[in-house]
Amino acid sequence: MVEPERWWREGVFYQVYPRSFADSNGDGIGDLRGLIDRLDHLEWLGVDGIWLSPIHPSPNEDWGYDVSDYLGVHPDLGTLEDVDELVAEAGRRGIRVLLDLVPNHTSIRHPWFRERPELYVWTDEPPNNWRSVFDRGPSWTLDGETGRYYLHTFATGQPDLDWRNPEVHAEFQRIIRFWLDRGVAGFRLDVVNVLYKDPELRDDPPAGPEDPPLLRELGMRRVNSMNQPEIHDLLREWRRLCEEYEPPRILVGEVYAFQVPHWASYYGNGDQLHLSFNFQLMYNRFEAGKLSGVVAEVERELPAGAWPCWAGSNHDGGRLASRWARGDERLARCGLLILLGLRGTPFLYYGDELGLLDGEVPPERRLDHAEPGRDAARTPMPWSAAGEWRNPWLPLVDTSRNVADQRADSASTLHFTRELIAARRRLPDLRTGSYRELESPPDVWVWRRGETCIVAVNLGAGEARLEIEGRVELSTDREGEGEAFDGRLGAGQGVILSLTK
Ligand code: NOJ
Ligand code: CA
Repeated sequence: MVEPERWWREGVFYQVYPRSFADSNGDGIGDLRGLIDRLDHLEWLGVDGIWLSPIHPSPNEDWGYDVSDYLGVHPDLGTLEDVDELVAEAGRRGIRVLLDLVPNHTSIRHPWFRERPELYVWTDEPPNNWRSVFDRGPSWTLDGETGRYYLHTFATGQPDLDWRNPEVHAEFQRIIRFWLDRGVAGFRLDVVNVLYKDPELRDDPPAGPEDPPLLRELGMRRVNSMNQPEIHDLLREWRRLCEEYEPPRILVGEVYAFQVPHWASYYGNGDQLHLSFNFQLMYNRFEAGKLSGVVAEVERELPAGAWPCWAGSNHDGGRLASRWARGDERLARCGLLILLGLRGTPFLYYGDELGLLDGEVPPERRLDHAEPGRDAARTPMPWSAAGEWRNPWLPLVDTSRNVADQRADSASTLHFTRELIAARRRLPDLRTGSYRELESPPDVWVWRRGETCIVAVNLGAGEARLEIEGRVELSTDREGEGEAFDGRLGAGQGVILSLTK
């Protein structure tokens, strides 16, 4: 069993995008009550924690990531009582709930923007070349009412808070306590490396040939508009706050850092983030050499005691069955095997357990303002072939991979994912054992976990022969489980082997 204080290291998380998970009242928008009604699915699957994308009141210019009241619940999604019930009902099933905290910016419709403008970043003239993440336009916009410019790293409706103002700290202390007091297990922290900006608001310098494509395309390195060292003090402040609680609460950071050592610094010395999403893995090509290279670097650079955190899908980057596996369900299972077979905490995104693909969203149904749009990553969860949605806010077109059908089919990806989670519970080394890469043929990635487990995936196009022995605990093709491994790994096949029996 997973020990209580190690739950966030040993458990499996599941991200719920609330508007798209389950709709309880037929208005086409997923809601908290819908999620409560579907907790049985998550319990059956075996997950230990849920991360809920933002649930607060929001004008939805960025679908919840533009918060207009941090202490409330969006009426489309439910009420505070629903949150309490969710926490209680999930808790009864051994599932903890993380909320999403968005501290970099508020909605422009948050009352603070007019009533307490000093909480934001203002200038008389655009002072620098900083550009918005969403449309790469200037991140300074003239406010008609004050005649001054405000900073927005994201959409114009998302003004950035001034984290150099102590009142902002005080407000977020209150917000964090409000939710932790209600029994929430912690937070996923939105764009945590963006909060602090250069105090002199200096230009971002030009990108060079050594920079990653994203920055080269943008033409600049975001070293002054974000990524300032003061963030580490703030994370230490929040970590202390989390540790005042019993059981201690946790912080999971979204840190888009292009260099592994920079990303790793957000763990501090065991006194900052508990977990930090690794985007190098998620956004890499689905090739054995690329992925194993990321893991090798992470294993090398992480401070002692820090714990990796892996995801293959989310509401921004889309679903792994599309991005990594290009629709090939065998490869989607390999993706899941990798996430749960590595040393670290895996986060599944709703639908990953089905091998769900990105949705089909025609241009006239597009809702996201970011470029490129992210709607396809956020389409409704198909609960059955009929979908179980009436006029959903985003279209649900393809229901061929759905919960009901896969639940009825023990050979499905849903059952595979459940067995994979069960294997982590059953095999301690799969949860906590060290990671060591073993030699393997091209396109194959083989690693050892502790003394008793081996994980192998063949991402190539031909069968591979491996000189390893062990008992097949789980195979992506569900063949030969419980038997001795015969050394053959087919194209798009992955296995977990145990060496004990
Ligand atoms: C990261 C979130 O994941 C994304 O959905 C959002 O648009 C930006 N942060 C801005 O809050
Ligand atoms: Ca609803």
